[in-house]
Amino acid sequence: MNELTINGLTFEPYLKESDIQKQVQRVASEIRASLTTDNPLLLCVLNGAFVFAADLLRALDMPEAEISFVRFKSYEGTSSTGEIKQLIGLTEDITGREVVIVEDIVDTGLTAVKLRELLVSHGAKSVVMAALLFKPASITVGQKPEFVGFEIPSRFIIGYGLDLDGKVRGLRDIMVLKENEK
Ligand code: IMP
Repeated sequence: MNELTINGLTFEPYLKESDIQKQVQRVASEIRASLTTDNPLLLCVLNGAFVFAADLLRALDMPEAEISFVRFKSYEGTSSTGEIKQLIGLTEDITGREVVIVEDIVDTGLTAVKLRELLVSHGAKSVVMAALLFKPASITVGQKPEFVGFEIPSRFIIGYGLDLDGKVRGLRDIMVLKENEK
């Protein structure tokens, strides 16, 4: 695929669809090997993770695996900490369940930390995270996800669910912002 200019920014090819699919298969095998029950709950964090979650669920090949979708709703809080995020969409009883959080990318790690805390407090038997992409140099809180597709540098990427202002989520490949565009 060639370069792509969107909203005035130019992106170049980074990860090919075939390489992404190989890593999805590997991550799925690792998750399957680590589970102790046949009925895990995949929890897809919207919006970005929807493409990865669909491929991962199918690659898992576990007929009793379930999937559900959550998102963080941002709103302005009255506290001095500024923005507070509230989780919406968690309707399942997760007591005693093995939960696999499915994330597109872990950047600062803030989303991951909040979500893990919340799920443990709701009584999950175990909580692990699968992230297609992980930016090790950007993480400020929490831990590396248990399952990672690719470790990448701290550059802005799009495609395979990841957006630029809501656009380009449907790209099959992942593209990176050109260095001289920053
Ligand atoms: P964190 O809480 O900083 O780890 O944020 C993770 C979220 O930030 C992801 O789920 C994405 O929605 C978004 N994000 C982080 N890096 C990128 C990127 O390079 N491209 C698009 N979205 C990103």
